[in-house]
Amino acid sequence: MSGSTPVIEKFEDGPVWTIGYLVYDVSTKEALVIDVPMWSAEKIYRRVKELGLSVKYIVATHGHWDHIGDMKKLKQLTGAAVCANPSDGWMMRDPNGMVIPPPERVEPCEAETPLVDGSELRVGNFRFKTIYTPGHSAGSICLYEEEAAILFTGDTLFAGSVGRVDLPTGSMEVISKSISEKLMTLPEDVRIFPGHGADSTLKRERTTNQFVQMMSAER
Ligand SMILES: [Fe+2]
Repeated sequence: MSGSTPVIEKFEDGPVWTIGYLVYDVSTKEALVIDVPMWSAEKIYRRVKELGLSVKYIVATHGHWDHIGDMKKLKQLTGAAVCANPSDGWMMRDPNGMVIPPPERVEPCEAETPLVDGSELRVGNFRFKTIYTPGHSAGSICLYEEEAAILFTGDTLFAGSVGRVDLPTGSMEVISKSISEKLMTLPEDVRIFPGHGADSTLKRERTTNQFVQMMSAER
């Protein structure tokens, strides 16, 4: 273990301000990208080239089009393996057929590496562990790097809020269980990096996020 932390760069883009994260180990130059918003692939790729990085994986935290809008394009540019939970595969294969369709056509994207609870991705000296957190969608996951105490939460947990549950396969009961039993049991100094909005810490969400407090009270 390096004892250091990976570098995290944010790419906030697309019509609903979705955040893609370029995460890399400065010592080995290996990288992974977590979510690829619409219009962001070329910007991310430019940065990858500038830093001389090698992108090993592209992860979808879930299948909604705003998170995979430019995923196919980034895959073509980098050759990295696309990884996602299989339960959202149907959304990634048909992003234009969603109940709320994208404002412009999104290229379908197939995940070749399935991520299930406990799946690990090694990037440089870091290990990103998949935490399966359904509820916002049936295939929602979070990525956790324990040593660096960082957690990428997609649309499951936000600073001050939680993911909506009114889209297909969403469930309040299920997201509530995911957050209270899987995320809130992690150390409180863990920093969270959501798919929209500001980053935060688990401690701050535990103490100030009213949705999280309601979910914990119900258990
Ligand atoms: Fe979403």
